[in-house]
Amino acid sequence: MKRILTGDRPTGPLHIGHYFGSLQDRVNLQHEYETYILIADAQALTDNFETPEKVRDNIIEVTLDYLAAGIDPSRATIVIQSKMPTIAELTVYFMNLVTVARVGRNPTVKEEIKQKGFGESLPLGFFAYPVSQAADILAFNADLVPVGDDQLPMIEMTREIARDFNRIYGEVFVEPQPKVGAFGRMKGLDGDAKMSKSLNNAIYLKDSKKEIIKKVMAAYTDPTRARKTDPGHPAGCMVFDYHGIFTAASQQMIRDECLKGQRGCVQCKRELVENLNAFIAPIRERRQSFECNLDFVKDVLRKGIDKGLQVTSGVLDKALQAMKIDYRDILSES
Ligand code: TRP
Repeated sequence: MKRILTGDRPTGPLHIGHYFGSLQDRVNLQHEYETYILIADAQALTDNFETPEKVRDNIIEVTLDYLAAGIDPSRATIVIQSKMPTIAELTVYFMNLVTVARVGRNPTVKEEIKQKGFGESLPLGFFAYPVSQAADILAFNADLVPVGDDQLPMIEMTREIARDFNRIYGEVFVEPQPKVGAFGRMKGLDGDAKMSKSLNNAIYLKDSKKEIIKKVMAAYTDPTRARKTDPGHPAGCMVFDYHGIFTAASQQMIRDECLKGQRGCVQCKRELVENLNAFIAPIRERRQSFECNLDFVKDVLRKGIDKGLQVTSGVLDKALQAMKIDYRDILSES
């Protein structure tokens, strides 16, 4: 069976951008692939090292979101990254294969450095996270990596590292393929290019109906419409875009009504609230049932660590042998 490895930084609860970017794919593909899902806490610390409790608190949160979204622990393995010293070890050796200039050209890293305002005090750990992400993937020798499209540069670098390693030391690693979800990158309701917790524009999988109402009703309203009978502008309207996902069947009708001034923004938002809530409600309910059964959740994580160590240790062994530094021959008694 081919393998999947993918993951998330545990810096907050998961939102619908995560869902349509890759979580939905993982849920569907867990039947066809041996699936590993990594809670990337060590990566999360690279830009949250001063607030470790934030990362810690979100381990269980993210696990609950996975289970609620339909990740089935009897099919997929949830792994905590920092519990895999195997990944840290591979990262050290992969660092030799990547230049500073190469990471500097990674558009996602570039964008994040700007957005976080690191400037001159850019931590080396943050700058190097694409290399450790390559180790996440290659430690499992994954064939496929379901991700949001902002992660494509990371997968490209992972493929390069695998290729270089194999060329220099011999075939150990698979060159993984990325798989971007149906809505590669979901925009925020504020129209920002990316939904994210740090941009404060996310709708969470655990949001209550009240929270959904608050967020949707606060979305940008067309300022050119003094009266609701004025013609609207669906192009560029996030509420309209979201209808495309949550009200797909009648998006065309919504467009026509809006253009003709037959659909007020408030009514349009109310409909979106209903459909968004209909999508989130079953996830929210499943989450609540897992919240009442934390022993089960913890057991999932413990088993994931065991399985993850087993799989990654095998791959690491091969890599060390290929690099001729396992020293079994030198150290064994003759
Ligand atoms: N960088 C990813 C994100 O921010 C999370 C991640 C960590 C990941 N390790 C990974 C994704 C390995 C895919 C594969 O969303």
